Amino acid sequence: MASTVGSTAEGLSALDISGDWAASAPNLWKNLSLLSPDQVQLAKMLLQMGQSHLFERWPEPGVDDDEKRAFFQQVARLNASYPGGLASYIRTARELLADSKSGKNPFDGFTPSVPSGESLTFGDDNFIHFEEIGVKEMQNAAFVLVAGGLGERLGYNGIKVALPRESSTGTCFLQHYIESILALQEASCRLVEGACQRQIPFVIMTSDDTHARTLKLLESNAYFGMSPSQVTLLKQEKVACVDDNDARLAVDPHNKYRIQTKPHGHGDVHSLLYSSGLLKTWRDAGLRWVLFFQDTNGLLFKAIPASLGVSASKQYHVNSLAVPRKAKEAIGGIAKLTHSDGRTMVINVEYNQLDPLLRSTGHPDGDVNCETGYSPFPGNINQLILELGPYIEELQKTGGAIKEFVNPKYKDATKTSFKSSTRLECMMQDYPQTLPPTARVGFTVMDIWLAYAPVKNNPEDAAKVPKGNPYHSATSGEMAIYRANSLMLKKAGVKVSDPVLQVFNGQEVEVWPRVTWKPQWALTYADVKSKASESCYISQRSTLIINGRNIFLEDLSLDGAFVINSADDAEVKIGGSVQNKGWLLENVDYKDTSVPEEVRIRGFRINKVEQLEKTYNEAGKFSWKP
Ligand code: UTP
Repeated sequence: MASTVGSTAEGLSALDISGDWAASAPNLWKNLSLLSPDQVQLAKMLLQMGQSHLFERWPEPGVDDDEKRAFFQQVARLNASYPGGLASYIRTARELLADSKSGKNPFDGFTPSVPSGESLTFGDDNFIHFEEIGVKEMQNAAFVLVAGGLGERLGYNGIKVALPRESSTGTCFLQHYIESILALQEASCRLVEGACQRQIPFVIMTSDDTHARTLKLLESNAYFGMSPSQVTLLKQEKVACVDDNDARLAVDPHNKYRIQTKPHGHGDVHSLLYSSGLLKTWRDAGLRWVLFFQDTNGLLFKAIPASLGVSASKQYHVNSLAVPRKAKEAIGGIAKLTHSDGRTMVINVEYNQLDPLLRSTGHPDGDVNCETGYSPFPGNINQLILELGPYIEELQKTGGAIKEFVNPKYKDATKTSFKSSTRLECMMQDYPQTLPPTARVGFTVMDIWLAYAPVKNNPEDAAKVPKGNPYHSATSGEMAIYRANSLMLKKAGVKVSDPVLQVFNGQEVEVWPRVTWKPQWALTYADVKSKASESCYISQRSTLIINGRNIFLEDLSLDGAFVINSADDAEVKIGGSVQNKGWLLENVDYKDTSVPEEVRIRGFRINKVEQLEKTYNEAGKFSWKP
């Protein structure tokens, strides 16, 4: 057991009381006998760093002693999990808060220009070529999902990865991600001669807010078919919140013996991967790529094969996935920044920084569209592909530390007090900031309909989004899946009826036929083309669910709901005309608490009035026509 400081007098001398700070916490002195020598040192550090307010409401010894000890255990954890400890955290917070108060742009001195990258058009020869390369390379990849975020804007009570990606099948995001990785693993292995044993590693970064529920979701669903040894959960720690520009640590509003904490941002993923030792294990196993993605982008895996193909062909150390971006649109732009001292970097610049930066560097109109109708700076969607070797080299220098920022919400223009406590944050896309100019940093731009439909906003906020801007809600996220699948089929020659406009939870969206398929049915455009013939037709009110690998749509004409299930070793040809009452979308109000939250936040429920379901559970070749 740790020895405690025996008396107040002894404690006072251990603290070497000399400055004003020492006299500032009388309530702490009274409780010194509770503390171990290490805790006394932490107390001293806190007082020296101007944090005496933390003890203002501490009662006499004998009252809440366990809570007081628990307070110092929390301080020890916060101190140990931040490079340089809490004192360093407080110092950095003060510096960044002073910069924020004075309105300093972190990119001052840099001139932005358009970096080089690859712009892809879905379905053309170039796209097909990159998809082919990407699928081959997939067996050399590891996936990292950052899923530690609070999801405050969405306000959903569960974890975001447990939400249905779409409600026709009810498949949750995590299941879809795992099935996509497994399908890619299988497709990639099929292209290798001889036996291919490789399992694609899958890491999930969690936080205290998401860890237990993520693990439970995996365990209660047998890891959705993935081998548990293939999955690693890495939990990020939170950081302390601060209440003002002096970085006074915030007391938890629910417990005066705790410091309030919040997530540090997804930038933690780099230091966690580095310290976990996984990167070296992967390198030793011959892996070459690490693909990072976020919790609720249901379209991402449609963009992954071609993007990895670009990384491999162009030998990009860093490849940021991007979408065309309208000038001033509220997503970061990928820009090359060149400093007057010669430094350069290709990096995400937040939209509110890009415009002033352009104006101050000889572009009087700031962030404007070019002849394409879009900003020349593509919009960052925060999905990164890093080449493993150079990544490890860089992390050996930095330990994975990412430049932090602070984003206080000020009460008024004096910028002296905050609406609520704030904290330092770091973002995974800031990784390239420390790279040398020789690093090959590029991007891959793809159509938004194919690559990006996150679920971030609650219904109320989404309904307030100005017309023409993306809602990024559960409603738009689901409709984006149907639209992308319909457009992919259309490109392959299938006749798909045009969408209708409908309003759910105050958001007007395009409603396409509700087409969904398992990743193993089609990972690439070539897969879609080989499995859906041009003589198919799907009406707007239809639902088509394809649950199986070798299902071939020959001359299917669908006006209603059709679910096709097949075992892996069955080959099923489907044709003819299917008509029934189908599945209807019925409006639900987000305020209607009698409806499950997952349904309520998307603003509709599916009424399964009538469908045709065909199931082929055995191996063999089958052909079906009504
Ligand atoms: P978001 O920008 O969606 O933030 O994070 P968020 O914290 O989840 O949601 P809000 O801002 O509170 O509404 C982008 C991705 O980064 C992850 C999220 O889980 C999401 O996949 N993330 C965010 C982390 O892993 N850790 C963090 O500390 C923050």
